[in-house]
Amino acid sequence: MDVAFRLNGETTRVSHPDPTRSLLDYLREERGLTGTKEGCNEGDCGACTVMVSDAQGTRALNACILFLPQLHGKVIRTVEGLRAPDGSLHPVQQAMVDHHGSQCGFCTPGFIASMATAHLNGEDDHDTALAGNLCRCTGYAPIIRAAQTAAEQAAPQWLRDDCAAPIPARDLSADEALRPTTQDALAAAYAAHPDATLIAGATDVGLWVTKQLRRLERVIFLNGVADMAEITITDDTIRLGAMVTLADLGRAIAPYHPSLAEMIRRFASVQIRAAATIGGNIANGSPIGDGPPALIALGARLHLRQGDTRREIALEDFFLDYGKQDRAQGEFVEAITLPRQPDHLSCYKLSKRFDQDISAVCGCFNLALEDGKITHARIAFGGMAGIPKRASAVEDHILGKSPDAALEGIATAWAQDFTPLSDMRASASYRMEAAQNMLRRALAERAGVPTDILAVQP
Ligand code: FAD
Ligand code: FES
Ligand code: FES
Repeated sequence: MDVAFRLNGETTRVSHPDPTRSLLDYLREERGLTGTKEGCNEGDCGACTVMVSDAQGTRALNACILFLPQLHGKVIRTVEGLRAPDGSLHPVQQAMVDHHGSQCGFCTPGFIASMATAHLNGEDDHDTALAGNLCRCTGYAPIIRAAQTAAEQAAPQWLRDDCAAPIPARDLSADEALRPTTQDALAAAYAAHPDATLIAGATDVGLWVTKQLRRLERVIFLNGVADMAEITITDDTIRLGAMVTLADLGRAIAPYHPSLAEMIRRFASVQIRAAATIGGNIANGSPIGDGPPALIALGARLHLRQGDTRREIALEDFFLDYGKQDRAQGEFVEAITLPRQPDHLSCYKLSKRFDQDISAVCGCFNLALEDGKITHARIAFGGMAGIPKRASAVEDHILGKSPDAALEGIATAWAQDFTPLSDMRASASYRMEAAQNMLRRALAERAGVPTDILAVQP
């Protein structure tokens, strides 16, 4: 297996790499490109951020949890490759100098890569663009000032040209067993090797390698499977291919369910959202994944495929028990479909930090009121059980009642639905109280009571 990409303007071919070698290790250990730093080695700090481009655009990604085969056919720019051919600094580099945006400098290359990417894409929400980059000494104000100043200048044309220029096809060898390019090829490869580990965005699997030091004997990379990355919206359904990234999902869902889009803005960071897929978020079976509660509340169906056999189940039925899902060996998640519906969804993510944090509790409420009575209720939580779980008894209790009456005598229903655990993120009693307050908030919002503590009330 060969991996080919363009690195800082130079077409590069790596022959037979260890498929789980990270881009970060490759850059630092084999190419001497030590500008890109290793901080956490788990996608949290952004010190390893690089720019990665392909036909879909340019995004900032964490090199520490990117495996080399995921870079096949891509264009990569590290901090060393952002200076123009005439030697002048990139506008964000110059602005960081001018605004004293660096002290010890350890975080700076990662910030520069994130800022240059946002600059190229014309993004002006600098807080969001930099939420995945940590700086322990400079303080963020000078960095944000640098980003604002750089935004006044156009992105360098030479960089735009480089990011947009494809790798010549002659350099791109195929390997449909390791990195299939169609769903049919994936189905065949996985049927032949049902023991293989599927790797989508690697934002979970990456940590198995970097933190748990696991050796993955056989892997199949999904990021080349273009027909699994599509979003199709018809009059009846929204269909999300399993390889749709959280970034793309957030953009696509915003007109239909803005509260979900807003919650996705708090899903990890720009770098993680650009890599993480909705299929991986479901298939990992995590009880604290942010995608499943919202999708369950929207009545999502899960489409699974094994060889040429396909089946479809309600998403909530996929999660059987902690660490156990209704998925056979060799079966993969193909897509998720949501029924088109009027928007009655409210999603609340409770975590210790606003950005880049896993939920302690995530509650999603699909509630409709008519004539002061609750006429539709689908509610699901993350963080309240060993699986993402629907609040069926709570739904039954509140249906047909007014928001005030709905909360009376509801304690038994909560106890029927959930027995949360205590862990480092929250105690069981805190989780239960927080979940109940989320319902209280959702009902208050439906009844038109202002609940946003940040909004100025007349
Ligand atoms: P991968 O890591 O590639 O795979 C995850 C699992 O799913 C593996 O077992 C893999 O084999 C399997 N898999 C992947 N695709 C398929 C498929 N199509 N069919 C069958 N199996 C498949 N998660 C949250 O929910 N909210 C957060 O705020 C959040 N923050 C994070 C912050 C950081 C710093 C990191 C590192 C992770 C965070 N995560 C968060 C977890 C992770 O990003 C998500 O679970 C993500 O959606 C996983 O998707 P992926 O494509 O990276 O999956
Ligand atoms: Fe921290 Fe990669 S080293 S995100
Ligand atoms: Fe030291 Fe940011 S300048 S960590």
